[in-house]
Amino acid sequence: MSIGIDKLGFYTPKNYIDIVELAEARDVEPGKFTIGIGQDKQAVPNPYEDVVTMAAEAANQILTEDNKKDIELVIVGTESSIDESKSSSTFLMDLLDLPNEVRAFEIKQACYGATAGLQMAKDFIATHPGKKALVIASDIAKYGIKTAGEVTQGAGAIAMLVSENPQIVELEDKSVYLTKNVGDFWRPTFSKTAFARGKYSNEIYMDFFKTLFDNYNQKFDQDVENIDTLLFHIPYTKMGRKALNTIESDVSEEKFNDLVERYQKSIEISRSVGNLYTGSLYLGLLSYLINGDVKDNESLMMFSYGSGAVGEIYSAKVVSGFEKAIDIEGIKNMLDSRKKISISEYETIFNTEYKNYDVVNIDTVEGEFYLSEITENERLYSRISK
Ligand code: HMG
Repeated sequence: MSIGIDKLGFYTPKNYIDIVELAEARDVEPGKFTIGIGQDKQAVPNPYEDVVTMAAEAANQILTEDNKKDIELVIVGTESSIDESKSSSTFLMDLLDLPNEVRAFEIKQACYGATAGLQMAKDFIATHPGKKALVIASDIAKYGIKTAGEVTQGAGAIAMLVSENPQIVELEDKSVYLTKNVGDFWRPTFSKTAFARGKYSNEIYMDFFKTLFDNYNQKFDQDVENIDTLLFHIPYTKMGRKALNTIESDVSEEKFNDLVERYQKSIEISRSVGNLYTGSLYLGLLSYLINGDVKDNESLMMFSYGSGAVGEIYSAKVVSGFEKAIDIEGIKNMLDSRKKISISEYETIFNTEYKNYDVVNIDTVEGEFYLSEITENERLYSRISK
């Protein structure tokens, strides 16, 4: 039975900052941010947006009433959760009008969460033929104003409908994984922003990639010259490229140049959005499918990495005709119609947070789903009918 991603939705907030303007405001040579880090723009969520509203926006793009009837599993992967107890998935029941006869929960393991959800969904479909699973990656990457990580912030959500006979990507059974107790990046429950040992996190990321790459090739007796495309978790676009460089001596020059060319296509959207945390690998997939020169039945090696740390490389295959299942125009319009805000506007938004008994003014809301109020410390959400 073939199982995989049948539909793929993406949401990113309507506001962004220009990375050159951020560099100037921080007194940094712009080349460091645009070349050294590899970013152009950074998404800035409004204070009424969070992982629930972004998850709803991304999933709403792809779900038909017929799809909803078949969903029996709803998983949100996030590390920017809004509640220590109640999962984001439960809010989606009402916001998306999903059937109640489902298993719904949240998964956390830094940027690996969505991959954990996807693999779980694959196993679920294998034992529940005819059913579908909704896996959503939703995150706000926040390090703080004037921190080293600030340039690698971002926000957005990716929604994946997982089913039999998928239209976009088939998930294969070939996979290798690795877990180690590593202090490269963490966010204690008291803190809204993450802490990172930046350079160390880069080293661990590359070490995990190379170890998994070698393990995969050995375990599945893969000739590296036969790899079509390698997709990476993208905390910032230079990171995946640095990892790719670690295999330069393993492949021919022609193969390496081809892998680099494909990698460039996979980072086009990330360059203008930033780190989606657990959605980043899947934003790379989407970007590649939209912008890449994709071959028929092309094979993909997917490198998922979540600090702390868990890594996995698994293989997948692109389904021919995949482009009909992705709203390419809608995604391009969403990106093109965003509004650039100034660095001081971004700083104000960054420091704005709704408190208990605040009610959000609906006239300020730009999306369809939003945090409408906080009452008795309970976050309540609404949908503006379009
Ligand atoms: P930094 O110390 O400010 O930057 O922090 P740097 O000094 O390392 O410089 C960055 C690059 O810019 C260097 O290139 C410089 O040479 C270059 P590299 O040596 O790396 O190839 N550079 C220039 N290039 C062109 N023109 C110039 C110029 N000046 C310098 N004028 C760092 C950078 C990424 C460490 C920081 O932003 C950070 O801490 N970010 C957050 C952590 C992070 O993203 N880690 C990535 C791996 S861990 C991961 O992926 C998991 C994660 O997504 C979380 C999760 O799993 O949940 C983060």
